[in-house]
Amino acid sequence: MSNILCIGAGHVGGPTMAVIAKHCPQHRVVAVDINAEKIAAWQSDRLPIYEPGLKDTVLSARGRNLFFSTEIERHIAEADIIFVSVNTPTKTFGRGAGKAADLQYWEKTARQIVENSTSPKIVVEKSTLPVRTSEAMERILNSNDKGLFFDVISNPEFLAEGTAIRDMEDPDRVLIGGRETDSGQVAVQAIVDIYAQWVPRDRIITTNLWSSELSKLAANAFLAQRISSINAIASLCEKTEADVSEVAHAIGTDDRIGPNFLRASIGFGGSCFKKDILNLVYLSEYYGLNEVAAYWEQVVKMNEYQKTNFVAKMVDAMFNTVTGKRIALFGAAFKANTSDARNSPAIDICQALLEERAQIVITDPHALDNAREALGEAAEKVVFEPDPYAAAQGAHAIAILTEWRQFVELDYGAIHEAMIQPAFIFDGRNILDHRALHDLGYNVYAIGKPPRTHFPGA
Ligand code: UDX
Ligand code: ADP
Repeated sequence: MSNILCIGAGHVGGPTMAVIAKHCPQHRVVAVDINAEKIAAWQSDRLPIYEPGLKDTVLSARGRNLFFSTEIERHIAEADIIFVSVNTPTKTFGRGAGKAADLQYWEKTARQIVENSTSPKIVVEKSTLPVRTSEAMERILNSNDKGLFFDVISNPEFLAEGTAIRDMEDPDRVLIGGRETDSGQVAVQAIVDIYAQWVPRDRIITTNLWSSELSKLAANAFLAQRISSINAIASLCEKTEADVSEVAHAIGTDDRIGPNFLRASIGFGGSCFKKDILNLVYLSEYYGLNEVAAYWEQVVKMNEYQKTNFVAKMVDAMFNTVTGKRIALFGAAFKANTSDARNSPAIDICQALLEERAQIVITDPHALDNAREALGEAAEKVVFEPDPYAAAQGAHAIAILTEWRQFVELDYGAIHEAMIQPAFIFDGRNILDHRALHDLGYNVYAIGKPPRTHFPGA
């Protein structure tokens, strides 16, 4: 039996520990957090995050070998293996502001581990961190006067929000990086043994520490790059009457390219892609690799353009003004099946429309509370409406900003009748049936497709 501890019970730590506890009844798994409200929620029926399948997984192990607690120090002392999944946002101040990772939470955690340990432990990096952070972690942990040695392992998370449980249960691969020393290899094996309880051995990849850290950033940079690439093609489609869905299908059938992550959109959001690319940019600049830095930075720039271009398209289409017009935003989450609205393109689009002095109503099945928080002061000017029909009532336009299945299944005929005419739909996720909407009387604008309007001469 091992005592497994996770510091940081957020979107990564919570689901990861729940799945480990479910499959490893022989181990005691505890997730701790400084946020007492969050811990109380993990202990209750209303979990702090929405993830399909999460509740069942938590219930299968909670109270048996899965525990949530705020007693960080006591649990550090008891732990054999400590996963660290605290937040590492982009720095907003000082050197590297806007690009480098803010490591204050992470460093505090490392120091807390040293202070409260009386036995050697394996410390596993789970947060996304800049390359070579594990080296800094080793230094902090092993500069102790207690004679304790800590092995540091990099085990990047590849789970995506909205599919976190599925990704953990059936991962494409699990990556575990460690030192090539004897004790480093023993530590790697201890983490391999945990995952091997449910993941086929050939999907568990072991590497050195640096490869593991860099692979995480590289994987996210490649994924984000695909989205920016298809979005760049979408802009060309809008000028040439090509249809981006047809182009994506045509290129995706090439085995070498593959069909995934080619959905043109209002841009990628979430807490990883932008942050990880900026980390890569910062790292490249640090090593004087300016062309490499500029190459990756362009992926982020393209993503920003995608959002401003969408808003510009809305304003243009609505006779060059949205001032005072009620606009219903369908979706606040950064993607479907999550309640997370951090870095959501929907929030940026909402802000930009507020600047144009539109009257904004947002509807979302799970992310309204988080949207309110993400909007900050601007939230006062926004109406939050859980019912999409009520949100669209009296609106000039609907903008689809999150690809929730629920939005595809609405009665758009009834909605059309309740809207101001001419009614507009801007499908920022290309999920609706544009021809059918046009037949219902809407003026339809999508991403990377010719508009379908009822205006004479259009
Ligand atoms: C991502 C990585 O996928 C995951 O492996 C990593 O561990 C964390 O970062 P996540 O940010 O949770 O996961 O979601 P993801 O599914 O990758 O979507 C990111 C953003 O890209 C969303 O805003 C999504 O809507 C957008 N997206 C995705 C597109 O616009 N088009 C696509 O084709 C795919
Ligand atoms: P991620 O998406 O990376 O999981 P979250 O913000 O969802 O990020 O989760 C990170 C969690 O880490 C938060 O719940 C936060 O309260 C917690 N946290 C940050 N610093 C500490 C710390 N020093 N000790 C314990 N928990 C921490």
